[in-house]
Amino acid sequence: MNVPLLASAEGERADRDAFRRDVLAGLAASPRAIPAKYLYDERGSALFDEICDQPEYYPTRTEAAILRQHAAEIARLAGPGCALVEYGSGSSVKTRLLLEAMTDLHAYVPIDISRQHLEATARRLREDYPGLRVDPVTADYMALHALPDTIGKARRIGFFPGSTIGNLMPEEAVLFLRRARRLLRADGALVLGVDLKKTPQQLHDAYNDAAGVTAQFTLNLLRRMNRELEANFDLSAFAHDASYNEVAGRIEIYFRSLRDQIVSVGGRRFQFARGERVHTEYSYKYAQAEISELARRGGLSVASSWTDPSRLFSVAFLT
Ligand code: TRP
Repeated sequence: MNVPLLASAEGERADRDAFRRDVLAGLAASPRAIPAKYLYDERGSALFDEICDQPEYYPTRTEAAILRQHAAEIARLAGPGCALVEYGSGSSVKTRLLLEAMTDLHAYVPIDISRQHLEATARRLREDYPGLRVDPVTADYMALHALPDTIGKARRIGFFPGSTIGNLMPEEAVLFLRRARRLLRADGALVLGVDLKKTPQQLHDAYNDAAGVTAQFTLNLLRRMNRELEANFDLSAFAHDASYNEVAGRIEIYFRSLRDQIVSVGGRRFQFARGERVHTEYSYKYAQAEISELARRGGLSVASSWTDPSRLFSVAFLT
């Protein structure tokens, strides 16, 4: 029975080919950019979990506190016997806050691109919630058009936490909401976590923690290119660069060359000028009124929303 092994080796090669293709295209483009999804290899995912524990990075713990405080009301709004559909479930840590309150779920449907992550998570959840049906879907949630038949006629409640919607360009965010609306059907709902606008200093600090974990997270992408694409980035010659663009309402994340240098990546040579930046990610911040506007453009509306006492973060119930 070596078929699954073969399939996973082939999958790995395909993943590496895609990584190489996207990196070479991104470094040849102007301005240079590398898709943010490549930040999350095994070490990157572990570093991201560490970012969430940094004192300056308020979103994770603030969102968790909001969910904890309002889980019972969210469960009541969702109603009995619904299917909870999570977009980009990762290790489903925040989901547990909802699962504790939604005691008579028909099913939990985590969607994630990482099959391994998904299966390990599903196994743990089945252990911890013995009566719960867990129906994982391995997919890119931006390109998913159907859910497992086992959901039947259950009301579909989407869950998209972590302000991941802020990592999409606003037009993409609208497109995401329109697709979610179709997938979750007319009687469905979406529980959406969104990071709110606040002082530039607070935002700046959240993406420039004093311990330097976010910097390590960004530079891990260079390490990954060195390992997987035979690149020779000198990690001491590049820096993490994150700043708040107040006009655009977004944190902009790059790695920046600290000197003039030439780096080879996947057999090609790229010249970097001192100060030149390569974009990795945006993190859009929304005001409450902008969340309502985004929902409206996505064909949805804010039925309820909750925030923390300092108004750092918002969880909205969209229908
Ligand atoms: N969704 C997270 C956010 O936008 C992702 C994130 C946090 C992130 N810190 C980061 C992405 C640093 C890249 C670099 O807040």
